[in-house]
Amino acid sequence: MKQKRDRYEMHKYWGKKPSSDLGILIQKYSHEGDTVLDPFSGYGVFCCEAYLLNRNVISNDLNPVASFLNDQLLEKEVNLDLLQKQWKKILVEFKPFVEKWFEWKVDGTSVQLSSILRDKNDIPIKAKYKFNGNRKATEIEIDSVSANKFIQFEKSHTIEDWYPTTPLVENSRISAKKGMRVSDLFTKRTLSCHAKLLSLIEKHSSGNEKDLFKVAFTANLANCSRLVPPIKSRGDMAPGAWMTGFYTGETYLENNVLQYFENRLNKVIKGKKDFLSYFGTSDELDLNPIEYNNTFRTIKQDAKNLDVESESIDYIFTDPPYGDAVPYFEQSAIWNSWLKLTPDYKNEVVLKR
Ligand SMILES: C[S@@+](CC[C@H](N)C(=O)[O-])C[C@H]1O[C@@H](n2cnc3c(N)ncnc32)[C@H](O)[C@@H]1O
Repeated sequence: MKQKRDRYEMHKYWGKKPSSDLGILIQKYSHEGDTVLDPFSGYGVFCCEAYLLNRNVISNDLNPVASFLNDQLLEKEVNLDLLQKQWKKILVEFKPFVEKWFEWKVDGTSVQLSSILRDKNDIPIKAKYKFNGNRKATEIEIDSVSANKFIQFEKSHTIEDWYPTTPLVENSRISAKKGMRVSDLFTKRTLSCHAKLLSLIEKHSSGNEKDLFKVAFTANLANCSRLVPPIKSRGDMAPGAWMTGFYTGETYLENNVLQYFENRLNKVIKGKKDFLSYFGTSDELDLNPIEYNNTFRTIKQDAKNLDVESESIDYIFTDPPYGDAVPYFEQSAIWNSWLKLTPDYKNEVVLKR
């Protein structure tokens, strides 16, 4: 569900519930200073709303990427100026790397492709780019000579940076076929650019800022993979978005990793600013400031066997995965694997309708 608050737009983890409704429940069933628990916290909308309403929060999710996102959402100790400085350092090395992969010559002038339309055999068919300052993108057809040249370049390139080759759990419902690996969800171009980006984040960043980069990084993965279909009713190259599953259609859009990552990073920065604005770091005058003295804790346990002291919780909000609508753990492989995290698949809860 689309949330109106920037803090809930930092990542596309599924199953977010409307924050204003959760705020009403929290105020109705608990008081400031109470301890509240969400045993299936997901992205952490409930936990964040409760935290901002001055409750002590325990957030639990067995999916490691959910727990990671919760931590980043609720973390106050983050220096966004430092993050920007680190980004500049990353960019010095990352920009030329990406440019080599997405360069196209128009009448002798070099442009950066923003998207390439490829067929399911990965043959490039069309591409688009924007000239500096132009709002409208220009589309170009890629002839077979150029397509072959590019495919040869792609084949001859060796990826030097680490990337995950974790096997996907076979599941026809999400098009995860036997033998498929996380790396198969990407083209060599997007795999190579993501692997380089992650290695530069490791090199130039540290602490909570590094974790924030990783929120943007994981949020970007599917956007620049083989999983983005064009919205055909709007044209061959109309930008679509990955929603669920590991299905690659007849054609897909291969997006520019730098351009898309910058967009994701901006969303993360905006989200963090939104969260931090509650703690007196905003310029806006707040006539009724809350004196925050609450705590938050994330745990990564199986909700069926939570190790929480008896009588220590005032309010529990539960939002388990109903109706097997989203195979959370299996689909999160695209994120967990890059973070070197492994979910406990056998204990995932799925409530049948
Ligand atoms: C519907 S989502 C929660 C969304 C959240 N309430 C929000 O608004 O952002 C359900 C979550 O349950 C988690 N989950 C599944 N099995 C679990 C288990 N055994 N223990 C704890 N969490 C589990 C999934 O990883 C998923 O993140």
